Amino acid sequence: MISLSVIGLGNRAGKYLSCLSGDARVSCLVEPDSFRLQRAAELYGVPADHCFRSAYDFFASGIKVDGVIIAVPDQIHYPIAIEAVKRGFHVLVEKPAVTNQADYDSLLEASAKAKTPVGVCLVMRYHPYYKRIKELVGEVGQITEITHTEHIGPDRMGHTFVRGGWARKEDTGPIFLSKCSHDVDFILSLCGTGAKAVKVQSEGSIELFKRSKAPEGSTDRCINCPVRDCLYNAVNLYRERKEWIAGFDVPQDKTLDQVIDDVLQSSPFGRCVYRCQNDVYDTQKVRVELENGIKLSLSLEGTSAKEGRETVIKGTRGILRADGGIITCGSIREDYSQLENAPLHAGADKALVEDFLRSITEGTPMKASLEDAAESHRICFLAG
Ligand SMILES: NC(=O)c1ccc[n+]([C@@H]2O[C@H](COP(=O)([O-])OP(=O)(O)OC[C@H]3O[C@@H](n4cnc5c(N)ncnc54)[C@H](O)[C@@H]3O)[C@@H](O)[C@H]2O)c1
Repeated sequence: MISLSVIGLGNRAGKYLSCLSGDARVSCLVEPDSFRLQRAAELYGVPADHCFRSAYDFFASGIKVDGVIIAVPDQIHYPIAIEAVKRGFHVLVEKPAVTNQADYDSLLEASAKAKTPVGVCLVMRYHPYYKRIKELVGEVGQITEITHTEHIGPDRMGHTFVRGGWARKEDTGPIFLSKCSHDVDFILSLCGTGAKAVKVQSEGSIELFKRSKAPEGSTDRCINCPVRDCLYNAVNLYRERKEWIAGFDVPQDKTLDQVIDDVLQSSPFGRCVYRCQNDVYDTQKVRVELENGIKLSLSLEGTSAKEGRETVIKGTRGILRADGGIITCGSIREDYSQLENAPLHAGADKALVEDFLRSITEGTPMKASLEDAAESHRICFLAG
């Protein structure tokens, strides 16, 4: 039996918990929000004396577990991960593993010293579509250049990076790190083992989500706003389309519709996207030169209507294009578009959890280990 402590019971933890099977048992739960803690305790049958409101109470309890899953906001991954490592617990930490180079180095050192492997939730490594791109990349011959754009999409951009918890650098770190760290990790993985950057240049700005771009006549909250055709209208997103509402908890004495109305009236998610306190970029271009001569052009695009990743890999014998789940290269054309919005990252979340459990049983690192993710994190830290 593998005993686990799950720290931070929000969106990501819910996904990983739903993937547990076989020998894994949820032994401890940690979450400051009592509603979420209670709900998970009932669902996974965890007794009250194994439920904690803070990670420090959990560590202080002296309860031993085999593995710890850390799915809290980005800025607090480090203090929790380092405590878990020091106690010899196997760690699976959400991406980005930490938010600065000093913490990364310190966690790597602590993990090596304690001989405690740390895995990072780089789900793209386990995703069938991205795995297929990696399998096919040899078709282009020697890679010379990769252009990769992540189009965040209007719903995710407005909800998460303008109105939500990833909108301010002091809360979360730079957006290129929080959103694109797994993209950089994936692109680097195509460039040969141990690919290293020798130059990183970055340019970012807020092009759209600022007061000067607010439509004429728009108001502070969408619920009162006469501009109904706005792409970012919260009434349309949450009340009409019922998208991005999974994080709105519904207590027993309320209905979902009442909760959404409360959100629109008074929570940060009801605000006009042109009048938030966001300071992370909505547009960024990062150019990287690798030691082996490959040039990378990586873009984060938060202002367009498009959603998804677009990759062009140029090589000495051909060009591979991957866009919207469709891969083309010479006479090859493969369609994975049905995987784009498939649940649990098209099975990648389950594969990641299984790899974590395997690494605990066998005592070997995960495919997405902290060591392996060091260079992609370093590039993101340099890009800022
Ligand atoms: N791998 C991916 O594809 C992916 C996708 C989205 C988010 N993420 C990352 O996953 C992590 C969690 O994101 P999420 O979307 O689940 O966020 P979330 O806000 O849904 O959940 C975070 C939970 O942590 C809790 N929390 C806050 N402070 C805590 C503390 N000190 N101790 C314990 N719990 C605490 C919050 O109350 C909340 O329930 C973040 O680092 C995020 O960047 C990864």
